[in-house]
Amino acid sequence: MSQPLSLGTPLSPTATRVMLLGSGELGKEVLIALQRLGVETIAVDRYEHAPGQQVAHHARTIAMSDPEALRALIEAERPALVVPEIEAIATPVLQELEAQGLVRVIPTARAARLTMDREGIRRLAAETLGLPTSPYAFCDSLEELQQAIDGGIGYPCVVKPVMSSSGKGQSKLDGPQDVRKAWDYAMAGGRVSHGRVIVEGFIDFDYEITLLTVRSVGADGQAETSFCAPIGHVQVSGDYVESWQPHPMSPAALEKAQHIARAVTQDLGGQGLFGVELFVKGDQVWFSEVSPRPHDTGMVTMATQWQSEFELHARAILGLPVDTSLKSPGASAVIYGGVEGTGVVFEGVAEALRVPGTDIRLFGKPESFSKRRMGVALAHADDVDTARVRAKEAAGKVRPRLG
Ligand SMILES: Nc1ncnc2c1ncn2[C@@H]1O[C@H](COP(=O)(O)OP(=O)(O)OP(=O)(O)O)[C@@H](O)[C@H]1O
Ligand SMILES: [Mg+2]
Repeated sequence: MSQPLSLGTPLSPTATRVMLLGSGELGKEVLIALQRLGVETIAVDRYEHAPGQQVAHHARTIAMSDPEALRALIEAERPALVVPEIEAIATPVLQELEAQGLVRVIPTARAARLTMDREGIRRLAAETLGLPTSPYAFCDSLEELQQAIDGGIGYPCVVKPVMSSSGKGQSKLDGPQDVRKAWDYAMAGGRVSHGRVIVEGFIDFDYEITLLTVRSVGADGQAETSFCAPIGHVQVSGDYVESWQPHPMSPAALEKAQHIARAVTQDLGGQGLFGVELFVKGDQVWFSEVSPRPHDTGMVTMATQWQSEFELHARAILGLPVDTSLKSPGASAVIYGGVEGTGVVFEGVAEALRVPGTDIRLFGKPESFSKRRMGVALAHADDVDTARVRAKEAAGKVRPRLG
């Protein structure tokens, strides 16, 4: 564990400088939280005017998957911390620079590397740590995929490119007629063109949660693990549309969930907040995946916790104490672009904010796609059900249109 960083004055020689690799809506909130603590921020993304670049002290635009460009930028800026916000980064460069003592990567360069594709983290969780997961196999061809399914995974099952997020290239297979289609879809939807997929047995869960887990520095200088209340969510085509907190769990299931989250985050190490995705059926809990950074379903914590997941991340990485306690039940609902084009205009914002207990975030993305997440509605209420109704109502009132 690293002791608290000394906090200086931004834009002066004493500044504490932090670089975000990826500056979307989640990075934007982390940057705001860091700025509130007087940190000098550098927002990196692959396109200009990314949401986080609009609020940071410095904006840099590079291909973060390009090892040379990434190395050159980090060597030029020499930030105290490098904070990955996305998976598609040349993580071997981060490992080299960290090994040379040139930077500290959040939570660790190894964690960024292991979670950038589904294989590293799945093998760690299931094979090294022995945690319960869906049955799975990795396949490099249509033939291997068919063999893995026939050899034990069975139907229904789920096929995903090893490198993808937000459900891209992912499909559920109900029988042999779906195999070729799923393979072709995965090949088209992967982040980089290499033909490897994971096939997972389908878990018929009652519900799924994100367990936000924070590794911070305790008063004794040792690592301390804290858990937020479970976040329930709904995914459509592998992408989150709605989340709420707290999600009720049996004491036995909650204990298993926390055990799994503690084991995974302890192994990944370092400091920061993690989003541990879990499937639950009765008292049974399966590990699905983990983000070593704030999680999209955790945007709800801006309405529900004293310290949002972004503030928790900022504090933990700086070596400061955290408080994961709940303030109020609440919910979030995604606002989609609906239209395709640049410079969209948002109608209905006042009506949305007239729904009691609500707030919204408009991310400021320069370009809208029909299914692109452009904002989020947040709501708090005395109970989760009311908050969910309010968040969805508010989200539904915001109507992006072409300018
Ligand atoms: N083995 C499985 N059994 C049942 N449902 C599954 C399984 N794998 C994935 N899902 C469903 O699909 C969703 C997305 O899967 P996963 O989290 O692996 O993909 P992702 O592309 O990383 O998504 P995101 O980036 O949004 O987290 C899960 O949250 C779950 O609802
Ligand atoms: Mg996921």
